[in-house]
Amino acid sequence: MSIAVTGATGHLGRLIVESLLRRGVPPDQIVALGRNVAKADDLRDRGVAVVQIQYDDVDSLRLAFAGVDELMFVSGNEARKREQHRNVVTAAKDTGVGLIVYTSIANADRSTLMLAADHRATEQEIVASGVPFVFLRNSWYLENYTSQLPTYQERGIVGAAGDGEISAATRADFADAAAAALTGGAQAGQAYELGGAAFTMAGLADEVSRQSGKQITYTDLPVDKYVGVLVDGGTPQAGAEIVADGDRGVASGDLHVEGNDLERLIGRQPTTLAEASRDAM
Ligand SMILES: NC(=O)c1ccc[n+]([C@@H]2O[C@H](COP(=O)([O-])OP(=O)(O)OC[C@H]3O[C@@H](n4cnc5c(N)ncnc54)[C@H](OP(=O)(O)O)[C@@H]3O)[C@@H](O)[C@H]2O)c1
Repeated sequence: MSIAVTGATGHLGRLIVESLLRRGVPPDQIVALGRNVAKADDLRDRGVAVVQIQYDDVDSLRLAFAGVDELMFVSGNEARKREQHRNVVTAAKDTGVGLIVYTSIANADRSTLMLAADHRATEQEIVASGVPFVFLRNSWYLENYTSQLPTYQERGIVGAAGDGEISAATRADFADAAAAALTGGAQAGQAYELGGAAFTMAGLADEVSRQSGKQITYTDLPVDKYVGVLVDGGTPQAGAEIVADGDRGVASGDLHVEGNDLERLIGRQPTTLAEASRDAM
């Protein structure tokens, strides 16, 4: 049995490898894949195979996937990821991978988010490839918010998410769900909508106020004004538009997840906003 994990040099993929090891998967049955493989030197020291891949280079993917039974496909983060993801699916099919577990986005089949189009296209390509699959449709990471706690305390919280509900969860919980799916906990052919307890931006401001002892407010802006604030703060225009579009999507429910797929996969309550912000404070 061999499990290969793409993005293992990044945050989520690394946590997935760690979770597989904690579940007792032998290190010599795990292949950690990434571009900047020096970031995985410690995994190599622990007996995990580390192999360099480049999503643009389908031959590098075919070489890396040879002999792999299950592919944990952590989505890429570059603008041309639709083509890059197609290469991953092609290589998985060509090399006879037995299962692709793909990290998609919440409500991928109906989400209005700009970011969702690539995930939807990748899901469709995976289905068309005929390779058995599991889709893990992740909502936002709680870290998207907890990483900004100092800024929130300094300047308050600004966004364009209205009173939309966000079913965010920690990367660690999403990683545990992925490791569960890779070790028999999920059913092939299924999409799992993954998220934690939902909160609004006003609820986030209340939580930060409670934990910091300062009164933090949430200011809701029209999407175009929020783009301007982000650009003024140093975010490049294209990135600012994607972030603001994320908030627009939150306002229309795109990041709200029904049901308890995450809890069922990980076998416990996901970490809450209160717990994650306390840990990050
Ligand atoms: N749900 C959310 O809130 C949220 C937020 C942000 C992103 N995401 C999505 O979730 C994914 C995982 O999140 P993360 O926090 O772990 O991201 P991350 O830390 O940025 O990791 C991205 C990983 O993708 C690899 N990668 C990127 N382009 C590649 C290429 N051309 N060829 C091979 N590998 C490539 C990187 O490799 P190197 O580091 O070795 O270059 C890295 O291992 C992201 O890539 C993105 O699709 C979700």
